[in-house]
Amino acid sequence: MKIDIIAGARPNFMKIAPIIEAIQQKKEAGINIDFRLVHTGQHYDRAMSGRFFEELNIPDPHINLEVGSGTQAEQTAGIMVKYERLLLQLPCDVCMVVGDVTSTMACSITAKKLNIKIAHVEGGIRSFDLSMPEEINRMVTDSITDYFFTTSAYANQNLKHEGVPDSKIFFVGNTMIDTLLKNEKRFRQPSLWNEHNLKQGNYFVLTLHRPANVDEPYQLENLITEISTHVNDMPVIFPVHPRTAKTLAQANLKLTNLYMVSPLGYLEFNYLVKNAKAVITDSGGVTEEATVMGIPCMTLRNSTERPETVSIGTNELLGIDPQAIKPALEKLLIGKWKKGAIPELWDGKAAHRIVEIMASIK
Ligand code: UD1
Ligand code: UDP
Repeated sequence: MKIDIIAGARPNFMKIAPIIEAIQQKKEAGINIDFRLVHTGQHYDRAMSGRFFEELNIPDPHINLEVGSGTQAEQTAGIMVKYERLLLQLPCDVCMVVGDVTSTMACSITAKKLNIKIAHVEGGIRSFDLSMPEEINRMVTDSITDYFFTTSAYANQNLKHEGVPDSKIFFVGNTMIDTLLKNEKRFRQPSLWNEHNLKQGNYFVLTLHRPANVDEPYQLENLITEISTHVNDMPVIFPVHPRTAKTLAQANLKLTNLYMVSPLGYLEFNYLVKNAKAVITDSGGVTEEATVMGIPCMTLRNSTERPETVSIGTNELLGIDPQAIKPALEKLLIGKWKKGAIPELWDGKAAHRIVEIMASIK
């Protein structure tokens, strides 16, 4: 069986790394399974793409579609045209997509129209917020998926409500957490640790990249100012996503405890999260990683497609109103944040379960 593995944007790389490793192991054991790694080129900076291949030992992509940046339609169309060309020349048996980015949806539509089966890793999650492009990507992808590999009981429930038969749903756990658990011992202290005199539990980590928070300078500046003002003068380490950097280039923030840095490598970023007082974020993946590491997490979004990080984990949804930040920080700073536990099957073995199932498909 030949599987195309699709990756395009930063959070995809952590999700595919353990799947590729598990396929390689099966192949070495003589099982008829192989992969072709297709990078769409949605993210292309070394700090958003190449570095993760090196750090996580992901083999070089067989093909890079080099779509680059653009509007939603430009990226979707660009990926579809180039991926279709590839499939017509060199088809595969299954197209495996991960997550909810534009590359996920564009490749699944393209493959399905050529009658290729679709496997969706992280299928079934829903924020029920159609103002986010990711929710549309999830719904479209799942409407044509053949094998759903799910991360949570919530995802299973969503799929059942949408009429997906049990026989297509495989509750396997979370491949992003496979990567976290595998690499935890390799986390690396970044040089900024000493530069800013960081100590365990005396600083915050901040990441922001959602259009609702970062595309409009006033909203972005208000969020950052509220955070920096109410953290008891502790340092706030802010690795800035390129989308956010564009807006910040016009801002004039003078906050002495805010340290804006380029996006960090995986091993350094998660070293910082693991030792932080708390994480403040609008990322999806970071809420999962904070939950597994037991680090308090505040999410600056109105909805989440990962409710288990709130109901089981350390995450709380604050919304996007900057006024919500102060009371949440007060609660944290008086030691009243919840402890949290680890969601079912987030045990480091999800990719093995996925590949076991794929290998058994006739
Ligand atoms: C995308 C995903 C989002 C995911 C995020 C992870 C979609 C619709 N959005 O958002 O779900 O959470 O990735 O990080 O798929 N840019 C660079 N260099 C890069 C990549 C991007 O400078 O390597 C800049 C470009 O100006 C680009 C902007 O960032 O226009 C946004 O990139 P894009 O891939 O469109 O969306 P993200 O905001 O990164
Ligand atoms: N991450 C990283 N460096 C950073 C910020 C995030 O390596 O500076 C990692 C993080 O540990 C997680 C992934 O990037 O594995 C999350 O990606 P992102 O927040 O871009 O996307 P989302 O999960 O919101 O789709």
